[in-house]
Amino acid sequence: MFILGIQGSPRQKGNTRYLLQTFLQACQEQGAATSMLQVAQKEVRPCLGCGVCEKKGFCVIKDDSMSLDIYSLLRKAEVIVAAAPIFFYNVPSEIKALMDRSQTLWSRRYKLGLEDPLRNSRKGFLLAQGATKGKDLFQGTTMTARYFFDAVGAEYSGSLTYRQIEAKGDMEKHPTVLQDVKETVQELLAPLQARKKIIFICRENSCRSQMAAAFARQLAGDRFEVLSAGSEPAGAVNPDVLKVMQEIGLDLAFLRPCPLNEALNESPTLDLVVSMGCGEACPIVPGATVQDWDLPDPAGQSIEFMRETRDRIKERVERLIASA
Ligand SMILES: Cc1cc2nc3c(=O)[nH]c(=O)nc-3n(C[C@H](O)[C@H](O)[C@H](O)COP(=O)(O)O)c2cc1C
Repeated sequence: MFILGIQGSPRQKGNTRYLLQTFLQACQEQGAATSMLQVAQKEVRPCLGCGVCEKKGFCVIKDDSMSLDIYSLLRKAEVIVAAAPIFFYNVPSEIKALMDRSQTLWSRRYKLGLEDPLRNSRKGFLLAQGATKGKDLFQGTTMTARYFFDAVGAEYSGSLTYRQIEAKGDMEKHPTVLQDVKETVQELLAPLQARKKIIFICRENSCRSQMAAAFARQLAGDRFEVLSAGSEPAGAVNPDVLKVMQEIGLDLAFLRPCPLNEALNESPTLDLVVSMGCGEACPIVPGATVQDWDLPDPAGQSIEFMRETRDRIKERVERLIASA
């Protein structure tokens, strides 16, 4: 399971960083793979408010960290942890820019009617702390985070917030933080960890295995942790796959082919391996059942053949889910 932590303070070694690092460490101890995004070290330009994403589904800013990496990370993550100090009763401007730019994902969902397959199972969690002790200290940030999580297709699943944290090192000295984090992470991850794990593998992870994973996530992401990978991953998901999945309302934009060894590192234990022409590279995972689906590679064939492959994959995934 991949968990993305967004470190929203410009202080690189301050209180937010400590809190998020502690949280991600606890996630790792539960077997998750994690990544911390230090937003202030990235280049995330502010939203222009131009409205192009509402019509086209893509941001006009194409060459900053948001377009190059962050949309993909947001789409890949099963849990997104937004962590921030309170600045003027909200989040600092760097992470706010990232949140504003998630308008592109909001538009794809609410303007263009496209569904991110992980939307039904992805969770969002907020970590925040600030110097003062007022009752309303976290109100603005919580509302902002809730709206952000909805935009990125994550269910808001709670927060850990701390008052009277100001100087560097204050968070570390908090008497209950370690226990709070441990208990919160266990509760947050328990339902996700109870799921069976399936991996769909083909050669390039750009057509068949991407489509199979999308259907499995959409139809049963609450019961299955779904991975997909390729023995020789392509540079991008096949554009015809994006097109034929979009025709039936499923959004695979921003996803990237994943190398097999990376997927197996992220989730070393698996219940089911479904291979579609990955040949000898198909991994032997102790304890996992293996199925080979005899489906010809649609890459380079007609768009009609891609549609037929999509429909056949959907049927097989439905049968798989019904029987598992
Ligand atoms: C520009 C700025 C604005 C701040 N605004 C608030 C505020 O509105 N309320 C508050 O309680 N603390 C406020 N603080 C204090 C920070 O939230 C606090 O020092 C926090 O622990 C910093 O976290 P960090 O170490 O992760 O950067 C502000 C700090 C800065 C630098």
